[in-house]
Order: sequence, then structure tokens, then C-alpha cells
Amino acid sequence: MRFLADVEQPTVAVVGLGYVGSCVAGALADRGAHVIGIDKDATRVAELAAGHVRVNEPGLSELMARCSGGPQLRVTDEYRAAAEADVVLVTVGTPACDDGALADEQLAVACRELGRHLRRGQLVIAKSTVPPGTTRDLVVPLLESGGLRCGEDLGVAFSPERLSEGSALRELATFPMVVGGICPDSSRAAQDFWQRGLGVEVRVVESVEAAEIVKLVNNWWIDHNIALANEVGKFCTAFEVDSLQVISAANTIHRGNGPVNVLLPSVGVGGSCLTKDPWMVQRAARDRDVALHTVTTAREVNDSMPHYTAELVLGDLRGRGRELEESAVAVLGLAYKNNTGDLRETPTLPMVDQLRRAGVSVTVHDPLADPGEIASKFDTTPCASAYDAAAGVDCVAVLAWHQVMTELDFGELGRAVNEECLLLDGRAYFDGDTIAELENRGFRYRGVGR
Ligand SMILES: NC(=O)c1ccc[n+]([C@@H]2O[C@H](COP(=O)([O-])OP(=O)(O)OC[C@H]3O[C@@H](n4cnc5c(N)ncnc54)[C@H](O)[C@@H]3O)[C@@H](O)[C@H]2O)c1
Repeated sequence: MRFLADVEQPTVAVVGLGYVGSCVAGALADRGAHVIGIDKDATRVAELAAGHVRVNEPGLSELMARCSGGPQLRVTDEYRAAAEADVVLVTVGTPACDDGALADEQLAVACRELGRHLRRGQLVIAKSTVPPGTTRDLVVPLLESGGLRCGEDLGVAFSPERLSEGSALRELATFPMVVGGICPDSSRAAQDFWQRGLGVEVRVVESVEAAEIVKLVNNWWIDHNIALANEVGKFCTAFEVDSLQVISAANTIHRGNGPVNVLLPSVGVGGSCLTKDPWMVQRAARDRDVALHTVTTAREVNDSMPHYTAELVLGDLRGRGRELEESAVAVLGLAYKNNTGDLRETPTLPMVDQLRRAGVSVTVHDPLADPGEIASKFDTTPCASAYDAAAGVDCVAVLAWHQVMTELDFGELGRAVNEECLLLDGRAYFDGDTIAELENRGFRYRGVGR
């Protein structure tokens, strides 16, 4: 069967309206597709129907406010709406268990429900990150539980989602989409859908398993590369060399098909993906008797960074003869990276915990993260402004540097803090001019790997 052969402008159902689902649904609606968003969380559905997006992604609120409630995008918690779609995208959460195995509950429930409502001729594209074999061994049988045959009545493909929080909408409009179908017709239909729906280049790979592995390799590479950068940072520090200068110079040559691209050292790696996808790789390899070493090494290095960063602060305080119990640190930027409010698995939390265990008082502020979520995760009420957080502290630790924070007045910040205050740069990567300005304002500057 040729899926989508006679469909001019497909209607798309997006199942799972979290970070990925809301960005993908918004991007498709914005380009003219009719989108039906389906989520089992009725509160989230009601919020989206009112044009409110929970996730703090540049441009997404405006986009959803424009599209929600109109003909372009409607949202529901009822699966039966999936029958109206020509293409069904699955973007539910796929956490990993402690041993790296897929915690498949969200995916299994979604596919079983879809199995009850799908009709002949539809194309299902799974996008949630999964270990190789999941589409064929879990998704397909559950979709077929309603009586339709995948590859005959239903097209099925896997297209990994490779967007990055903070630049999701731009990346959805520009990144090539990878497609692996369970049969050539599924691959062809998915390729055609993405080319028309998002206007992006499509790379068709040989199988669903190949497409599943592409996503894992992307995140395996990122985690591993950051681990390299973190160790370069530690190494350079031992020689009193700025690792950012070294990395920037090292990145000026080409190797293989592209430039060397060592990433940057920081307080650590967090978020819901990089902290679990490499473990999925490790587990899937073990299941096939393949011994991998890079995954565990990279995870260990990256998990050590909150501790390393906290020690930079504690070492500075001790070095100045300060009693830790009488010292205070302001942490600015709590999210797991710049330009997102996402606190999932943020490395700033173990860093703050370690400072507190040492007896230091900690104030916190993040302009993008939800204050209620900060309060419950960090066990303190966040300060309304960076200046409030910095009042009377001995160190300002910048652990995420969102675009909105570039408006900060270093003069006012400098007046709020104690004398000889350390500015610890955990992810801001301030340039020479900014460092000079901070020093003019009375701060002593130190960065991870600098
Ligand atoms: N967040 C990222 O930056 C990112 C980037 C690329 C890929 N991914 C992958 O994309 C997938 C989704 O990630 P996310 O961050 O958007 O997750 P999320 O937790 O933010 O969202 C998941 C959504 O699915 C809904 N859901 C759960 N079970 C459901 C069901 N049975 N039916 C309908 N809705 C259901 C939840 O209510 C929630 O709204 C994961 O596989 C993740 O690894 C995430």
C-alpha cells in the first residue's frame, strides 16, 4: 500500500505534548499543517488549549498563542481524535530504568491506545528516543493489537527527534530529519511527509533500527565530547591555561568530513536525554554481549563536574580564610543549560547540595525556571532577582547564563556582594572584555577550565 499517496495536505496527530511534542506540533502548525495534539494529561491539554505552554522555549509561547484554538492546532486528551489524522507522531517520554533498560510504560500505553483507534492507510512515525529494536518489537505489535497489519494497512517509521532545548524551533526548521521505515513504502511516505511538513532535508536510512541508533549516537557523541572538554578544562587548569582559548584554537582544523569540534567544559551535563540515552546504549550493547567503555567513562567524568565546581568555590573560600558556616554563595542560573527553564537532572542541584553540606548558605535565582519547581527541587524560595540573590554573598556562581541575563547590570551586582567576591563562571563563558568589566566592578573571576 502507498501511504499518504493521495493526501495533499496531511492532518497530523502528535501524541505526547511535552517539550518535544509541543515544539513539533507548533512547528508543523506554523507551516500550515492541521495538527491535533493528544496528551493524557488533561491539565496540560487545558493549558495548551488556552495558548499557555509550560516549557520555556524561545518563540514557542508566541507560536502556540497564534495557533492554539484555531483550525491549525487543537488539543485533546481523547485518543479517538487520532483516527482523523493521516500521520500520527509519537512523542511521549521514554525514561530509562536504573539498569538502562527502557521504561516503556508511556510508549506502550500510547501505542496500545493508538492500536484501538487507527484506521487503514495511516502513517505512524515514532520519534521518542528508544533502544534499537523497540519500534519493531514493541511499537508494531501494540499498533497491530487493534487488528490492522503494519506495513500493509499502516505505514510505520522511526524518525529520531534531535532538537536541543533553547534552540528547538530553529533546529526543527533546519536540521535534516532521519527516517527509517519498516518497509520501503513507510520510508517513502515518511520522507515525503517531513519534506513537505517541515521543508527540511531527509536522510533515509536502511531500517528502523538504524534510525533508532542514529539518535543514540548523536547523544553518545555529545556526552563523550563534553567529557573530553571537561577533562581538557581540568588539564589546562593544572597549567594555569585558559581551556577556552585552547579549545577554540584546537577547533581550527578539519578532520574526516568536518571541523574538529571540541565542546566546552562546564558545571556538568543534565536534562532528560544526555543523562539517560548513553545508558540505553550501554544496556542495549550488553544485551548483545558487546562491551563498551566510552559510555561509562564519559558519564563518570560528566557526573564529577558538579563536585569539581563546588570544590572550586569551597577552595576559594578556604583559601581566603573564610569560615564556611559564615559564607554565602548566590547561584544564578539553575537550569541544566543556557536558555531553557528545564530543571530535569540539572547538575546545579548536586553542586548546591555540596555547598550546603559544607555549611555554606546558598541563595538561588533563575529567570526562566518555574519558581514553584525551584522551591521544591532546591528546597528554598528563589530570589526574585539576581541582585536580591547576590546581597551580601562571597561568591556569585553563574551556572547557566540565559540570553535574558545578559541585561544584568554588573555594577549593581558588584554593589550587592561582599568585598573580594568570586565570580565563578560555570557555563557563561564570559569573554575577555566582560571579565575585565567584572574585575573593574570588584569581582575576582574564575571559570570552570579557566
Ligand atoms: N526534551 C528534549 O530536549 C528532547 C530532545 C530530543 C528528543 N527527546 C526525546 O523525546 C521524547 C519526549 O521527550 P520530552 O522531553 O518532550 O518528554 P516530556 O516528559 O516533556 O513529555 C512527554 C509528554 O507525553 C505525555 N504522555 C505520556 N504518556 C502518554 C500517553 N500514553 N499518551 C499521551 N500522552 C502521554 C506526558 O503527559 C507529557 O506531556 C523522549 O523520548 C525524549 O528522550 C527529548
